Amino acid sequence: MTPGPPAVDAETFRRFMGAWATGVSVVTARDGTRDAGLTVNAFLSVSLAPPAVLVSLQREVDTLPVLEAARSFAVSFLAADQRALSERFARSVPPAEKFHGLPVHRGTTGAALPDGSLGAAECRLASMTPLYDHVLVVGEVIRVERGRDAAPLLFYRSSYGEADPDGRLHLPGPRPRD
Ligand SMILES: Cc1cc2nc3c(=O)[nH]c(=O)nc-3n(C[C@H](O)[C@H](O)[C@H](O)COP(=O)(O)O)c2cc1C
Repeated sequence: MTPGPPAVDAETFRRFMGAWATGVSVVTARDGTRDAGLTVNAFLSVSLAPPAVLVSLQREVDTLPVLEAARSFAVSFLAADQRALSERFARSVPPAEKFHGLPVHRGTTGAALPDGSLGAAECRLASMTPLYDHVLVVGEVIRVERGRDAAPLLFYRSSYGEADPDGRLHLPGPRPRD
């Protein structure tokens, strides 16, 4: 079959996916010498026995080779007041810069776990499956830690939700229809 133009273009798809509200996580890994990490919302739980999770990473991200060398990674769930942390880990800067001055603690895999999250899971790398322009990374959860009892950071319509001082969440309002 001759590949034709995609039936749904990238911008239309991106806007469609904006209606799917998600939490926001930071995925980190350490391969012995190097820390790397990025903001991820393509996250899901895939299995209970064994407990396993999946993250979908763009092929070119700096975190992938570190995660692959480490054979492990950690996922930290962000709280509503950690928007700056999400923005920091979504920046296209050298990995070391993302960790500069950042309060973290170390998990058993050596991964840096940002302080103040809602909780973190450490995973042993189970599989990496390249698919289209992403790599599907599955990890078996080998340790979890509970974090703060606080409102979650949400991502919806390409924007973050905001929490008021009482912890009530406010989502971005509707955009003009196109
Ligand atoms: C809210 C949000 C969610 C994101 N989710 C993902 C994701 O699921 N997978 C991914 O590869 N990149 C995702 N990104 C983009 C990466 O965080 C960004 O490309 C980052 O700079 C990659 O860092 P690295 O090259 O240092 O690994 C997301 C960004 C934001 C702001």
